[in-house]
Amino acid sequence: MTTGNPRLLPADSGIAEAASVLRTGGLVAFPTETVYGLGANALDARAAARIFEAKARPSFDPLITHLADGAELEKLVGTVPAAVAALAERFWPGPLTLIVDRPAAIPPIVTSGLATMAVRVPDNEHARALIAEAGVPVAAPSANRFGQLSPTRAEHVVWGLGAAVDVVLDGGPTRCGIESTIVDARGERPVVLRLGALPVEALEEAAGPVTVRPGSSGQPVAPGTLTAHYAPRTPLRLAPGGAPPAADGVRRGYLAFRARPVGDWAAVEVLSAAGELTEAAARLFDALHGLDAAGVDEILVEPVPEAGVGRAINDRLRRAAATWHPAG
Ligand code: TXA
Ligand code: MG
Repeated sequence: MTTGNPRLLPADSGIAEAASVLRTGGLVAFPTETVYGLGANALDARAAARIFEAKARPSFDPLITHLADGAELEKLVGTVPAAVAALAERFWPGPLTLIVDRPAAIPPIVTSGLATMAVRVPDNEHARALIAEAGVPVAAPSANRFGQLSPTRAEHVVWGLGAAVDVVLDGGPTRCGIESTIVDARGERPVVLRLGALPVEALEEAAGPVTVRPGSSGQPVAPGTLTAHYAPRTPLRLAPGGAPPAADGVRRGYLAFRARPVGDWAAVEVLSAAGELTEAAARLFDALHGLDAAGVDEILVEPVPEAGVGRAINDRLRRAAATWHPAG
């Protein structure tokens, strides 16, 4: 845990101050529609280096560059492949991150030395106002320490990063609740590098068949795809619904999809009583933060239906479980 507190500013009145912190090389955590990002001026290598330091993030894990508007893409990188431009046109602003060639203006530290850059336009008015006011592209990973739960509220950022971040712009809970879908659409057939808030079905409707390669941990193309990731501090494992907890004195918390589990659990979170996957996604990390803070010995989680954004939710749950129960 980090000690000390960042400056917490309301998103509707704090934009100018937060933008000036970005312009002068500082770190600003800000809301997007997916999760809170930890932003720095993407044109400034020293500012970007501070992101890695604040998150204890390995230098091989590249950052996503955020733009205020889709029109900024060509200004920054020049012409992009038609298929990439078409997806940007269709889904930006929104929870889709696209892979393009890294322009010379972006220092290599932002992309961890890769020749490519991940980029998106967030669908959150405060995020876009901040980036526009700063007048620079903003590099931002999720605003959590590396490998831990992503933040969906300003409080999560404060708990996780403390004074390692200069300013937290509080825009309330994020709408989608899980990270953007990352797609490399430069080749013949788009490849999903990370499942996320934009469902695969929506991509396929727009772009035809795609290849989903979320588990390709062989090369570090998208460390959001590392097997162990998104983990709470409390041991967590997957468990199908239905069975009550063993009466063995172990205090267990349960993360349920739609129905409260039977039995005597020490803590319970239900993701969506209505059984809606988008609601479940929006609540996922907040519920896990809650169970993590409940003082239980173990968290059991129920997988959700494997459709739409449910695939991205299950992906996060499997990776969180793998941190505690590595494959085998
Ligand atoms: O929704 C989101 O995408 C959030 C908000 C803040 O925008 N950001 C986010 O960033 O989830 P982060 O750093 O937690 O995850 C970014 C992922 C990493 O797994 C990284 O490896 C991958 O994007 N990435 C970045 N640049 C890449 C590149 N050039 N090629 C492949 N993957 C890349
Ligand atoms: Mg992350």
